[in-house]
Amino acid sequence: MTIDGDAYRRIIGHFATGVTVVTTAHDGWLHGMTANALTSVSLDPLLLLICVDKSAHAHEQLDKAGSFAVNILAVEQEEISKTFAVSSEPEQGELRGVPYRLGPHGSPVLEGCLAYVECEVSDRFVGGDHTLFMGAVLGGELLREAAPLLFYQGRYQRIEA
Ligand SMILES: Cc1cc2nc3c(=O)[nH]c(=O)nc-3n(C[C@H](O)[C@H](O)[C@H](O)COP(=O)(O)O)c2cc1C
Repeated sequence: MTIDGDAYRRIIGHFATGVTVVTTAHDGWLHGMTANALTSVSLDPLLLLICVDKSAHAHEQLDKAGSFAVNILAVEQEEISKTFAVSSEPEQGELRGVPYRLGPHGSPVLEGCLAYVECEVSDRFVGGDHTLFMGAVLGGELLREAAPLLFYQGRYQRIEA
């Protein structure tokens, strides 16, 4: 049975995910993009994969920075997810007014996130209108235990941790 893009979105929307903001920094230019097309790939070596729309500013920023952080959002960070789901140019030293610090490997870590992982881009694969960026994990930290923000059927959802 063949399906169109809308039907595919409805079907795949039943796969519940967490919500992250992928952040980059290069020469002081900071950028963040809400992302849930992410998977942990390998433990030896430590690898994860993110899928980024070729038309997103994040795509160019990932190419320029060659590194990124994945910030895992807590349930009360829905507004932050919405903020970084709106396309925006990178800013010098600013991240849409959201408090952050630079992680040990130089990518922005958002205040209040549950955990983060910093990666170096180790490979790229073409995936239709997206590019799959493989990230070699450089470091990371579990910052606090709290309920995660979830995305399911095109809506934000919550579970108790
Ligand atoms: C919950 C959620 C998950 C998303 N996941 C992705 C993703 O994994 N990859 C992607 O390219 N865009 C994803 N998006 C869309 C981007 O966040 C959106 O296109 C953003 O405006 C891109 O910003 P930029 O052009 O400034 O990089 C997601 C949006 C939402 C709301």
